[in-house]
Amino acid sequence: MRLLLLLLAAVRLPSHRVGAFGGLQQLRAMHREGTPCVDESASCEAFALAGECFNNPSFMGASCSHSCGLCDGSLERREAQEREARKAAEARYAACADEHAACELWARQGECANNPSFMRRSCRASCAECESAACHDSREECAAWAAAGECESNSQFMLKQCTFSCEMCGIEYSEACRRDPKMPPGVRKGDVDAMFTEAIERFPQFKPRVLHRDPWVLGFDSFLSAGEADHLLRVAGHDFQRSLAGDGVTPVRTSSTSWCNVPSCLNDPTFQEVRARISNLTKVPWQYAEHLQVLQYKQGQFYHDHHDQNAPRHSAWGPRLYTFYMYLSDVEKGGETRFTRLNISVAPRKGTAVLWPSVLSENPLVTDERTYHEAVDVEEGVKYGANFWVHMYEFQEALQRGCDNRDYFQDDMLAARVGKRRADATKQRSVASTT
Ligand SMILES: *[C@@H]1O[C@H](CO)[C@@H](O)[C@H](O)[C@H]1NC(C)=O
Ligand SMILES: *[C@@H]1O[C@H](CO)[C@@H](O)[C@H](O)[C@H]1NC(C)=O
Repeated sequence: MRLLLLLLAAVRLPSHRVGAFGGLQQLRAMHREGTPCVDESASCEAFALAGECFNNPSFMGASCSHSCGLCDGSLERREAQEREARKAAEARYAACADEHAACELWARQGECANNPSFMRRSCRASCAECESAACHDSREECAAWAAAGECESNSQFMLKQCTFSCEMCGIEYSEACRRDPKMPPGVRKGDVDAMFTEAIERFPQFKPRVLHRDPWVLGFDSFLSAGEADHLLRVAGHDFQRSLAGDGVTPVRTSSTSWCNVPSCLNDPTFQEVRARISNLTKVPWQYAEHLQVLQYKQGQFYHDHHDQNAPRHSAWGPRLYTFYMYLSDVEKGGETRFTRLNISVAPRKGTAVLWPSVLSENPLVTDERTYHEAVDVEEGVKYGANFWVHMYEFQEALQRGCDNRDYFQDDMLAARVGKRRADATKQRSVASTT
């Protein structure tokens, strides 16, 4: 109700909605030259205020020409004003630009939140620091409405018309990729640390070895039998293709990849048994993980320094939490997994595995920047490894529903924004009271 009042107050006669020009022409066409300029109904003014001149131009142009401003030149003035306003807005949007071609990709990967000082300066459009051609409000009143809480109480209208003020830039709408709000997250605050500590106790049979604490890097000297490693390679390594990295263009990765995404692998009992083993260990259901990926590095092949967390927090499946990496072959020389910021290396040995987090235990929505790593060049032999990436939320069914690695509208987004606005208001009040 409040929004309706706001709307009525805002829609000055004639409506200054952007893109009303089509309606304007129709309106003019309906008001025949030389006919007297009068309202034929006492309700014309109210209709006009409600936006009917443009919503219903055939009736209004013929019957409410006075209230629709067809007689005194006000329509023409309005039209000229609108054209000016639109030109000014376009110039403003053009001034809000990214400095790098990769900004959009980085923003999708959550970099605006993870690396704000660089991103907010260099990727202003993609981080929605200003209204851009790609994301702007469609109405002048958006900021005021958003401040009044309309994004939350009238989401459907607001999220379309006031995308920028509702902070919904770059967010896709898809019912299929909207998570069930009751779905439990894969980890909560503190769970990452607890899982690593417990894994050492719970799985002595895998011969855990602490390679690093804070952040955790946990090796397992005996995770797969030689037979299991061979078998996994056979069923999952059915179709090797050149691996893609991040944006799929930069030559940072030269390995080949085969996904366990066909029935002959997915239904394989050994694969399912290994998957259950990892799920038991990480305490996250296997459905929250991507398909197992098998990698092949021949002599001279590598994957340069990178981070595994590449999923936006509002994607259907949320960020990658863990990487469980299994070595499926012995390598004569080279091929180590090197944690570049921790200065530790894990040498590939068939049947061993290594587990590390991509997010902080204290705040699992935030990337742990310390777990950057690389696959060092293979100098002699062939390296086979298997990646198992575990996410914050259900992955397998969401993939079936056609979701991808983008931010989608999620129910928790609006609640979070209300909380933030309240906190900001409180902060402002306390600043005001101390100055
Ligand atoms: C999980 O692992 C523990 C420790 O090895 C084991 O006792 C338990 O049976 C496993 N649970 C499942 C469901 O496999
Ligand atoms: C990294 O580790 C190696 C071997 O453990 C050591 O020799 C080297 O000094 C370390 N480098 C840094 C920068 O800590």
